[in-house]
Amino acid sequence: MQSGRPSRTALAAATHRAAHQVLEKGCIFNDPLALPILGEDAKTVARHEGQPSRRRMRIFIAVRTRFAEDALAAAVEQGVRQVVVLGAGLDTYAYRSTPRDRLRIFEVDHPATQDWKRQRLEHAGIPIPSSLTFAPIDFERQTLAEGLTLAGFDPSQQTFFTCLGVVPYLTEEAVWSTLSFIANLPNGAQVVFDYSDPPDLLSGEVRVSHELRATHVARLGEAWLNYFEADELRAKLMALGFCEVEDLGPSQIAARYFPNRFNPLPNRGGHILRATTI
Ligand SMILES: C[S@@+](CC[C@H](N)C(=O)[O-])C[C@H]1O[C@@H](n2cnc3c(N)ncnc32)[C@H](O)[C@@H]1O
Repeated sequence: MQSGRPSRTALAAATHRAAHQVLEKGCIFNDPLALPILGEDAKTVARHEGQPSRRRMRIFIAVRTRFAEDALAAAVEQGVRQVVVLGAGLDTYAYRSTPRDRLRIFEVDHPATQDWKRQRLEHAGIPIPSSLTFAPIDFERQTLAEGLTLAGFDPSQQTFFTCLGVVPYLTEEAVWSTLSFIANLPNGAQVVFDYSDPPDLLSGEVRVSHELRATHVARLGEAWLNYFEADELRAKLMALGFCEVEDLGPSQIAARYFPNRFNPLPNRGGHILRATTI
């Protein structure tokens, strides 16, 4: 990230979520706050986001958010009350959750992105719920443990972490320090994050679109720094202390969310993963 500036890719992800509400009517992930927090109207979003080249990433972002919130809803149903949204960007979960769920939610993000989000919330008239605590943390300078402790996080409670669109932007050291903190929480934790297969394993259209996007985000000052091979990642997560790993690659995502799709999907590309120590 560029020092002192909010994340440009957070704006891009929020734009994709808003466009999904307009162009696909939120059929995968319904978010009534996606447009308001962006501060754009539906017509403008449809005009700017309608190109076919934008669709792949938009659908992936809708799927990863749906997968995370479905897993989170299941965890809440089972009694989890503490939630941490890592690299929250313009994520709106905290502003949609109901007091009935009695959640304590922490939004962790780079301080510059968090300041910008607070301005956007104010501008959109979206109130900050009393269940939410902001925890400004730069993962490359401060550990998650330090930042969350300062914010009042309770390590003795079972906790659900989402970490969407964040892992590729961190150094491997920051990724493993974060996952290790989660794995070592004494009373159990779950995390959902997304990642990509290494570019040299991608082929055809997926590789071309990956390279275009990688060049674009690097120009924004937010280069993708890491990739994982699925079997190696699973083994490392199990070694850290996670006991169950659910990892959906492109074909499993298609089978779950687009069962009637005719064209076969490539096996490599973006993954969404849930790991739990419980
Ligand atoms: C692509 S955005 C994803 C935002 C959000 N999770 C979503 O899905 O819309 C990446 C997020 O990671 C955060 N991020 C990147 N590097 C970071 C760092 N070193 N410390 C804290 N946050 C960071 C950015 O501020 C941004 O909010």
